[in-house]
Amino acid sequence: MTDQADTVEAVRWQGNRLQLLDQRVLPQEVAYLSYGDVDAVAGAIRDMVVRGAPAIGITAAYGIVLAARARFAQSPDGWKPAIEADLQTLAASRPTAVNLFWAIERMRELMADIDGNPESTLLAAARRIHDDDIAANRRMGELGAALIETPCAILTHCNAGALATGGYGTALGVVRAGFAAGKITHVYADETRPWMQGARLTAWEMVQEGIPVTLQAEGAAAHLMKQGKVGWVIVGSDRIAANGDVVNKIGTYGLAVLARHHGVKFMVVAPASTVDMGITCGDDVTIEQRSPDEVLYLTGQRIAAVGAEAWNPAFDVTPAALVDAIVTERGVVLNPDAERMRAMMERA
Ligand code: MRU
Repeated sequence: MTDQADTVEAVRWQGNRLQLLDQRVLPQEVAYLSYGDVDAVAGAIRDMVVRGAPAIGITAAYGIVLAARARFAQSPDGWKPAIEADLQTLAASRPTAVNLFWAIERMRELMADIDGNPESTLLAAARRIHDDDIAANRRMGELGAALIETPCAILTHCNAGALATGGYGTALGVVRAGFAAGKITHVYADETRPWMQGARLTAWEMVQEGIPVTLQAEGAAAHLMKQGKVGWVIVGSDRIAANGDVVNKIGTYGLAVLARHHGVKFMVVAPASTVDMGITCGDDVTIEQRSPDEVLYLTGQRIAAVGAEAWNPAFDVTPAALVDAIVTERGVVLNPDAERMRAMMERA
């Protein structure tokens, strides 16, 4: 099996600049954009050049290195108060994925103790966040695959793969490990309207890897489950609340309801950096509303009558009661609730 984590990098640091694989043009083009300026990095997160909760956090960490370089050059004594504006610009880029705020907070804490030029210390920290994410994904891959007792096909939604993380992927990390172990035989991928992460990104990742993938309109999920074609639904998350409620790409909640009805298991795979113990339940999370144009237009072509409106929430909340397993690098939480989530987060 090709190791996608070693061949496709959504985020990389090269030549003292940040490079992002432009996910807006995949799979037609594989093109990197280069960034030396933090405002442009915030724009790249907002415009979905890079997307997926862990990848957004890693990108922000590298963006802070660029910000520190510029602020220190302007004012070696005054860079710390000045960089706050940059941290706020990054934090305003997207509201739902907690990994963004988690990474900014980690970098901010580190800055407090830096004397002199901050660039090398902050770059080392950003690289650590990046490397730790890949290691977490590999661990989650093993833990998640171990939950699958009988070889089966699975259904996934959006893209929670190498492209959405530092490498290897969360939900697709379990797919990689499960396929290698003979536990996952086939991947059904929801196309994931309106941004088409499933069609454009997940299908591409699976094809690169030689893992058999079948794309479907998300409306096909009930029919698929009714026919007994999948044993598990496996997804990632943008934020998991302290009670185990899962915020993820719009449509995830519907899949969880369908899975429970049809006796299909539901697995959520996300690093501990996605768990927000400061949020009691999923309904307290800000759900990003994106432009109605993403629904009204397809590849630049208007598909709805002029005069029709569109509603475009980017995420929804799956109640913990519909989740069979949350897999993090710290361990597996079966039938999640507040107590089990706390016990998992207290593990080293
Ligand atoms: O809007 P996106 O593409 O950033 O949404 C991504 C998702 O919803 C993913 O499932 C989630 O971030 C987990 S990625 C490992």
